[in-house]
Amino acid sequence: MTGKFITFEGGDGAGKSTQIERLAARLSANGRIVTTTREPGGTPTAEAIRQKILSGSVKSLGADAEAILFAAARTDHVDKVIRPALARDGWVLCDRFADSTRVYQGVGGGVDEGLLHALERVAIGDTKPDLTFVLDVPAMVGLARVRERLEATGASADRFEGDNLVVLEKRRHAFLDIAAREPDRCVVVDATQTVEQVAAAIWQAVTTKLLDEEAS
Ligand code: TYD
Repeated sequence: MTGKFITFEGGDGAGKSTQIERLAARLSANGRIVTTTREPGGTPTAEAIRQKILSGSVKSLGADAEAILFAAARTDHVDKVIRPALARDGWVLCDRFADSTRVYQGVGGGVDEGLLHALERVAIGDTKPDLTFVLDVPAMVGLARVRERLEATGASADRFEGDNLVVLEKRRHAFLDIAAREPDRCVVVDATQTVEQVAAAIWQAVTTKLLDEEAS
């Protein structure tokens, strides 16, 4: 058995965390050692950077500096959590990863592609996901879910949750473009379906793309 790295991507309100929990439980029941983690974050230093970015307190530094901070957080996370877990043959399930930077800072934030490539190379090296789920919902649906969650928890919108529908729809298409360009790695799942249906689609892809391959 070898370690597997699975990332979950998509707009805000796509339901990634619920699906990560589901998949983690199913893989654990199948005898896999599973690490669930998230970005930005996953280590104490990266969580501190997360707080700075998502509170909006470093927004004034500009989009390039934010991209550099995301990359700094990712470097620590990959070095201290993801790579060691994979080296122990574990399965790592990560809520957002490098595709989020390509979409939020690149397409959505206007950061130069060359800078983003360089940062990605430094932060992740060859630790690339084996499989990436793009949980796809129309911007309106994602926005409604985020608002519902904020109301239920009493939290306020983070740095990116307050963006308008045009930006959200642009990001959605940017995720779909990545999936279209990298069909071996990416699986798009219609996340307007029920939690059960989305979980079933995810399990199906994990089985055919990773578990069957491992068994053969
Ligand atoms: P989070 O609360 O984890 O969002 P969600 O629950 O929707 O996944 O906050 C992460 C936010 O940070 C989210 O709006 C996307 C953004 N983000 C970036 O802009 N760039 C990145 O590289 C990453 C990992 C996240």
